[in-house]
Amino acid sequence: MKNITTEGLKEMYLRFFTEKGHTVISSASLIPENDPTVLFTTAGMHPLVPYLLGQKHPEGTRLTNVQKCVRTGDIDEVGDPSHLTFFEMLGNWSLGDYFKKEAITWSFEFLTDEKWLGIPKERLFFTVFAGDEDAPRDTEAYELWRSVGVEEDHIFFLDKKHNWWGPAGVTGPCGPDTEMFYDSGKPKCCPECNPSCSCGKYLEIWNNVFMQYNKTAEGKYEPLVQCNVDTGMGLERTVGVLQGVKSVYEIDSFAPIIKRIGELCGKDYYNTDEESVRGFRILADHIRTATFMIGDERGILPSNVDQGYILRRLIRRAIRWAMRIGVPDGSLSQVASVVIDTFCGFYRELDAKRSFILEQISLEEERFQRTIRQGIREFDKLMRKFDYVDCEKIIDGKSAFRLYDTFGFPIEFTVEMAAERGIPVDVEGFHKAFEAHQKKSQEGAEGRFKGGLADNSEKTTRLHTATHLLQAALRKVLGDEVAQKGSNITVERLRFDFSFPRKLTPEELKQVEDLVNEYIRADYEITCEEMTVDEARAQGAIGLFGDRYGERVKVYTMGTASKEICGGPHANRTGELVHFTIKKEEASSAGVRRIKAVIEG
Ligand code: ALA
Repeated sequence: MKNITTEGLKEMYLRFFTEKGHTVISSASLIPENDPTVLFTTAGMHPLVPYLLGQKHPEGTRLTNVQKCVRTGDIDEVGDPSHLTFFEMLGNWSLGDYFKKEAITWSFEFLTDEKWLGIPKERLFFTVFAGDEDAPRDTEAYELWRSVGVEEDHIFFLDKKHNWWGPAGVTGPCGPDTEMFYDSGKPKCCPECNPSCSCGKYLEIWNNVFMQYNKTAEGKYEPLVQCNVDTGMGLERTVGVLQGVKSVYEIDSFAPIIKRIGELCGKDYYNTDEESVRGFRILADHIRTATFMIGDERGILPSNVDQGYILRRLIRRAIRWAMRIGVPDGSLSQVASVVIDTFCGFYRELDAKRSFILEQISLEEERFQRTIRQGIREFDKLMRKFDYVDCEKIIDGKSAFRLYDTFGFPIEFTVEMAAERGIPVDVEGFHKAFEAHQKKSQEGAEGRFKGGLADNSEKTTRLHTATHLLQAALRKVLGDEVAQKGSNITVERLRFDFSFPRKLTPEELKQVEDLVNEYIRADYEITCEEMTVDEARAQGAIGLFGDRYGERVKVYTMGTASKEICGGPHANRTGELVHFTIKKEEASSAGVRRIKAVIEG
């Protein structure tokens, strides 16, 4: 097996697939264009969706690249040996060109041939799709692995949860996949231990997706016009395997970043406690991600909504860990500077935006430090109270919440500073106050969002349900760029504002109206479930995601017609609306249209 650098593996992968007739395309932006279903590009296939669906790609039918990706769903796992919020994905695609045979033969050649990675085949394990009511067992992939020389007991059939892949939204191109794993050599954790186990014995390095279905909004799997291949190899994880290191943070491209953090805090990563190692890793990961987000060609800045909020959260989390491991205030831009030096050879945009990136990280750091200083002053005031007022010395949940809510002072800081003075904090009370506030602000947001339900009468409740069906129908007829911009409901009518660049034609209005009436006639049951925003997004729910990151939300489902984050209330069944009529369609403001409509129910 070859010990290859990060840059070396990129170069080798692209060369291998170029030799197999592929054209190298550049990495797309981290911020998806015209795709409201995800905040960031999460895989190399993301920007290729139109071509997987059948549009012609200008570079041909065989493509390969290195794609910048961000996935924040596992942010709490960052710091373990394998999770990262930013990573690079090596990929190759067949757009209706070759299929399983070539994909599997080439993957095996690249992994095992001495000319390429030269991984001993005994160390490799494979999984294939076991089949279910939507698609057959992938015996073809199994036979292909066998035909290139893989032993029977190195191939496992697994279910849809493991061996099926589609993009983050629930609809779109998808299909069975076959995944490749490296056996770390650790003993099995139990007799059943297999590649789907997360004990760390088997490390996933590559995934070949055979994209031959399109999942519709109704949950059906329709055959695509063409059979595609979409593959993704995790760069950092594969380099980790090749370099024989314990975690992705120890590969060559992380080394200078880890080294710099060590210089700043005066600790040796390889010779320190577990907590500090976690701090090094979180800091390295988060600042690397932040650097790529700000430095992207469609770069973003810290803010309180959408992508900007995630960026802010990453930087602030990095600052807290920096403080914990002893990295001095104001030095995060020095870490970012090393990230730029390490990656700007491949990603020129980072060098071009160098001073801007460093400035933005420093600014966010200053903002957060100010917040913390003010929080400390407020905390001290609270402490002084104990000197004057004769009461039990405990920081109650409400006070801890006030520090957090009014001054942005993190609860961990309150607990830590209180502990230094031997004073307990009612953390449970803090969480209760936090939840009560969230509920209130959710209802408040709901109120603003929906323009306030004038009352909770059955009629307004049904009109509220009608707005969901209307939005679903508009998106179906006009496309997914339609997004709710506001709504107002009285007992007589609903008013619904949405983004769309032009006046609707009479035919379009009729189609929308008919579709809503179809949903009403279907008499769908309306159900409500609570889940996290990530779960809601994964299920394809629409609604306000950005500013609710990490919160639990309610998701209303109306049969196959609509799934939306919303506080309610709603009718029990769509049939209660009886009949829906559009009364008017007009401009509301630039790029925003307004529909007024009534129901009979
Ligand atoms: N798109 C596939 C993945 O991300 C290859 O695993």
